[in-house]
Amino acid sequence: MCGIVGYIGEKTAQDVLITELKRLEYRGYDSAGIMTLSPQHSATLLRAKGKVSALVDIASAHTTTDTMGIGHTRWATHGAPSERNAHPHQVGNIYVVHNGIIENYQELKTMLAYHDYTFKSDTDTEVLTALIDYMYRETHDTLAAVTAALKMVVGAYGIAVVHTDNPDEIIVARKGSPLIVGLGEGETYIASDASALVGYTKQVVYLHDGEIGRCTKSGLTLQTIQSKAVDVHVETLEMDLQAIQKQGFDHFLLKEIFDQPRTVQATLAGRVIPDQGYARLGGINLSDDQLRAIKHVMIVGCGTAYFAGMQASYFIEQMTDDVTVSVEIASELRYRSYNIPDHTVALIVSQSGETADTLACLMELKRRGVLCLGVVNAVGSTIAREVDSGVYVHVGAEISVASTKAFTSQVAAMTIFGVMLAAAKGSSPQLISEFVNELGALPGEIKNVLDTQNQHIQSVAQQYASYDHALYIGRDTLYPAAMEGALKLKEVSYIHAEAYAAGELKHGPIALIDDRFFEICYLQDNWLYEKSQSNLIEMNARGAHAIVITDTIKDIPAETMVRITTKFEHLTPLLFNVVSQLFAYYMALARGNDVDQPRNLAKSVTVE
Ligand code: M6R
Repeated sequence: MCGIVGYIGEKTAQDVLITELKRLEYRGYDSAGIMTLSPQHSATLLRAKGKVSALVDIASAHTTTDTMGIGHTRWATHGAPSERNAHPHQVGNIYVVHNGIIENYQELKTMLAYHDYTFKSDTDTEVLTALIDYMYRETHDTLAAVTAALKMVVGAYGIAVVHTDNPDEIIVARKGSPLIVGLGEGETYIASDASALVGYTKQVVYLHDGEIGRCTKSGLTLQTIQSKAVDVHVETLEMDLQAIQKQGFDHFLLKEIFDQPRTVQATLAGRVIPDQGYARLGGINLSDDQLRAIKHVMIVGCGTAYFAGMQASYFIEQMTDDVTVSVEIASELRYRSYNIPDHTVALIVSQSGETADTLACLMELKRRGVLCLGVVNAVGSTIAREVDSGVYVHVGAEISVASTKAFTSQVAAMTIFGVMLAAAKGSSPQLISEFVNELGALPGEIKNVLDTQNQHIQSVAQQYASYDHALYIGRDTLYPAAMEGALKLKEVSYIHAEAYAAGELKHGPIALIDDRFFEICYLQDNWLYEKSQSNLIEMNARGAHAIVITDTIKDIPAETMVRITTKFEHLTPLLFNVVSQLFAYYMALARGNDVDQPRNLAKSVTVE
């Protein structure tokens, strides 16, 4: 949820750390801080409540020429957002930045208080800092002190630690929270997310759980928490600067919505060839016999990843006869006592690849012997590494906190999986080929929606921006699209939005309709058109302010229409979803909200 950065080399550390922090701000943005250390052992600690810009203001009045330091941008877990609770935390000569949660911090705090430690903040991180300081009294070596402290810790962490006696080293460690070390010429970078390192170096080392490293100007040495040496495995970072820039758009959210024709193409590349009727995910190494044996698909994710799973489940069910599909919210599944049908395969869906609840489900499913396949975006992330096999969706860095391009590509990837299952099981070749053709045409169809609807949706949003509530209604494959549309609206516009299956309206939600509400109705011109239109008429009769998103040319009684043209029959919800993405964006803009970093949210939810 937070972002860690670090630098040791020849450059001015303040500049590097602040650049890195700005790149990571999307991970958490309620307070930020940096600490730099001079060769003469003098530390400068700067912290500010609020965004990195507040820290920049403070730093401009306290510039240093120090060439090493650590920094952090925070999303509060323990203790309210404040300068006092911001990282780095200092106890004695130890400074720490930390992502994750120390679960036994109360116990450790009591123990440390007994040894005369007092605490200035409400955070678990300050307790960890004190513990390292306490261990240093014995070891007189930072690496040894960190190792000893972490042996007493229960919980998750990615940390970077500096002792003022040692301006030549930064100690890092990870368990359950990502940490990457970037290797340059005579300089070493630290970050919790690869995007911070882009433009500085392409040589990166992803720490594994239980590893502790010593970073110096000349590189990195690694060992386990049991002090066993570990080989440093250097990988090449594929991300480039363009991927983390707005490229002329006002916001990352809009850029990422408009990126979708390209990113979906990247998801399909080499995997879908409509001319040859080919659709296969190379990363999923299952023979046709193994695919044929699958009887149940369990899709697991949170938030938008969960809705992507819901969306794909309808498609997989349509294509196959003898496969059941369940879609599970990871934060519920992990505490449930559930049965797993024989011949189950799990699809673990995550943009960041770090979501704590999704990861916990993955580990439990693996423990229970279920084959787990990843549908992940972030390369090298924990979930990507822990799954049995899987696919990357290849949408590149998604910087906006509200997920858009990841959703579309997650659905596309899982639909390809559905095609693989259907083909192996001998489903209707006609139906399979319709799905394959629509997948192939998806980038172009999305582009068409963006080109033809953008301006219109902007003006629709202006018309509805002052409403307090929204109901999203969809039937069948449009129900998951409605769920995702409502989530997007509430995340960025802060308008209360709820989604219902259209058929559920009469069972309760229709009572809500009044002048404070508008309704978004997804209406596809297919075999369910008449039924869904009836719902719309029923709503209109009760004074609804309906915005209909549709592909029909028929007359529809609605206050506002968003009509798209498409040849799709099956993947139409993905096109309607692009409309709702744009709508949410323009609603947030009209209400003057921080579109890319909505209040209270963070991009990667690495705590339960
Ligand atoms: O990184 P993940 O895909 O695992 O994240 C899951 C959710 O936290 C995420 O989709 C969240 O709901 C987004 N803010 C939605 O826009």
